[in-house]
Amino acid sequence: MPSRHIVKAVDLTPAELHKLFWEASMLEVRNRNPQTLQGRIVGLFFYEPSTRTMWSFDSAVKRLGGQTTVTAEAGLFSSAVKGETFEDTIKVVSGYVDALVLRHPDSGSAQIASTVSSVPIINAGDGANEHPTQAFLDLYTIWNQYVNGRRALRFRPLHIVFHGDNRHSRTVRSLALLLATHAKELGIHIESVTFCGSGIYIDPPSEVVWALAKSGIRVAKWTEELPTAHPTDVLYVTRSQKERHGEHADTVPSILPDNTLSRLSADGLIMHPLPRTGEIPVSYDSDPRAKYFEQAKNGLYVRMALLQMLLG
Ligand code: NCD
Repeated sequence: MPSRHIVKAVDLTPAELHKLFWEASMLEVRNRNPQTLQGRIVGLFFYEPSTRTMWSFDSAVKRLGGQTTVTAEAGLFSSAVKGETFEDTIKVVSGYVDALVLRHPDSGSAQIASTVSSVPIINAGDGANEHPTQAFLDLYTIWNQYVNGRRALRFRPLHIVFHGDNRHSRTVRSLALLLATHAKELGIHIESVTFCGSGIYIDPPSEVVWALAKSGIRVAKWTEELPTAHPTDVLYVTRSQKERHGEHADTVPSILPDNTLSRLSADGLIMHPLPRTGEIPVSYDSDPRAKYFEQAKNGLYVRMALLQMLLG
């Protein structure tokens, strides 16, 4: 059977996402670790720095009874330094494991890896392109708040704001594309998506705008302030992705405006894929709507559920 790769956020169907979310919420609620990955080895092969993604995958595999092989600085400590091609390296390392979680600075690298790998590739971030497992846990966080365990009748269409470096953030790209294509089928109805922030990188890539508009979602750009016409339900903040700014690497980050909390709905969410670098003041952490640490924790359950789906 050919390997099932997760290269893009939309590589899971809405039905699979629904199953993934139920499974993740069961893992979270029951707090038990089924040993579904016993005898399996998952490779974590990272060419870029990572804390959350690396640790949560590592922990997820081990909680499910599997083992990991980890290379945290693959650019320095793999045969790349000897001049081996990326394709050859992936061909070789995929022969040692049952799945390969890959992070790489180049957009498209996960897709290339999936064409030469003998085992499932899970894209853990490829340049400014995609970060599908982050999008899964982000959407899970939204689904948990507005859909899980609630009656459909109480559900209202959501206003979502992306604030920060919407141009270069792979987490914004993956989540926005997922919202455009799969959210409705998961019971998440979105009325508007607004792109905010300061500086020159507020606008998302054009295909993101197209995808959202095509699915009937109102798309707006509102510059620094959050929208005034309606409360914001989901505020998704990102840091300035300096490593992708080239000669503009000194761009000033987008800081949330002072009146942010007053523009959020009472059951709203403040999300951030983390790390934060000053965009969200620490004083927000005690607000019950600040969900970024819970969101990071959700990454563990969602990645456990995904590994079970692919390998269990
Ligand atoms: C994100 C990433 O690597 O794209 N981090 C993460 O995986 N949680 C966000 C970021 O680095 O800004």
